[in-house]
Parts: sequence; structure tokens; C-alpha cells
Amino acid sequence: MLLQLDLEIVKCVDLHILIIGASGCVGTFAVQIAKHFGANVTGVCSTTNLEMVEALGADQVIDYTKKDFIQDGETFDIIFDAVGKTTFSHCHLALKKKGVYLTVDWPILQALWIPLVSSKKLIFGSAVQNKRDLLFLKELVEKRKIKPIIDRTYPLEQTADAHNYVEKGHKRGNVVITI
Ligand SMILES: NC(=O)c1ccc[n+]([C@@H]2O[C@H](COP(=O)([O-])OP(=O)(O)OC[C@H]3O[C@@H](n4cnc5c(N)ncnc54)[C@H](OP(=O)(O)O)[C@@H]3O)[C@@H](O)[C@H]2O)c1
Repeated sequence: MLLQLDLEIVKCVDLHILIIGASGCVGTFAVQIAKHFGANVTGVCSTTNLEMVEALGADQVIDYTKKDFIQDGETFDIIFDAVGKTTFSHCHLALKKKGVYLTVDWPILQALWIPLVSSKKLIFGSAVQNKRDLLFLKELVEKRKIKPIIDRTYPLEQTADAHNYVEKGHKRGNVVITI
């Protein structure tokens, strides 16, 4: 979803992005891609993942087990909920006037009525929609501008265990099945 906005990000290096779930698979990539474009990134994660998210380049980190990012009264150009734990309604006060709320969730009805009542946007849907974006990501990986974070590796015959672990919802980055 960040990729849909890439041209705008390139033009606006002063963008301030909040990434909720910055320690997950989608989140760890989102932090790195946003930093690649020069955005100011605030990552939201739990205490155990603060250091890792900072090491990925986040300029600020917020521990969601200690406070809600809404409390500070800070506003962001983009809020990306990479784990679908929030709603537009919860986040809209933390968005700038023309701010964009991106989510991995599918709030279809809200996405229809928000443009009618607000200057803010809600965007959802699949992340990479065309070959150009895929090639762009491939290039970033090959040039080591972004790297996958690997939490655990399981052999193929332990795929069920890998799924059980992932479904607990606390992995850091990615889980790999080796074949
Ligand atoms: N991974 C993919 O390839 C992929 C592809 C397409 C769509 N999606 C969708 O994208 C979403 C995210 O997938 P994912 O694989 O990136 O998730 P994930 O890696 O399983 O997310 C787990 C991470 O989320 C953090 N987290 C849990 N609750 C949180 C909260 N309230 N606030 C902030 N962080 C929180 C956890 O940290 P703590 O343990 O510290 O809480 C953990 O590091 C899912 O809806 C998935 O269906 C994923």
C-alpha cells in the first residue's frame, strides 16, 4: 500500500508516517520502504521489539503496551496499520487534514462514506498491484536497501508447527519453511 503512494512520497520527504505493527512481516518492510523514500517514520510495536524497529530505521518508536499513540496529540500524514488492529475512527484525530489511513483490513463501507464527509482518506487492498512495483521491490532487495527479517525457520515437515506459531500473531518479521 505504501507503493501506491510512492510518487507522492518521493516528492514529500517531510512526510511523517506512523506504522502500526512495525515488527510484523508487512510492518518491517513498510518501515524500511518508508525510510528508503526519506519519510520520517514512527513505528508502533511492543517492548520486546522496540530495538529491532529502531534498528530498521524508525526515527521514533511507540510501545503500544504502554501507551496509545493517540494520547500524544501528534498528527501524521500517513497512518499505516500493517496488522489491522485499529480503525479509521480510532485514528482519524491523529491524521493531518489531508492525511491518509492505510490498512490491511477491508473496511469497505467506511471507505465509501469517508470521502463524502472528510478531507482524509482511507485506502485498503492489496499492496503490490503491478509488475513495475514488483520489479521495484526486487531491485531494493537485490541492492540490499531492504532486507527480510527472519524470526524462525522450519523444515517442510514441520509446516503445521510453523502455522501454529504464525497464527499466535507475535512473530517478528517472517517465518521461513525450508525445502
Ligand atoms: N505476511 C504476508 O505475506 C501478508 C500478505 C498479505 C496480507 N497480509 C496481511 O497483513 C496483515 C499483517 O500480516 P503480517 O504477516 O505482517 O503480520 P504478523 O507478522 O503476523 O504480525 C505480527 C506482529 O504484529 C505485532 N502486533 C500484534 N498486535 C499489535 C498491536 N496491537 N499493535 C502493534 N503491533 C502489534 C506483533 O508484535 P508483538 O508480538 O510484540 O505484539 C508481531 O510482531 C495480516 O492481516 C495479513 O493477513 C500478510
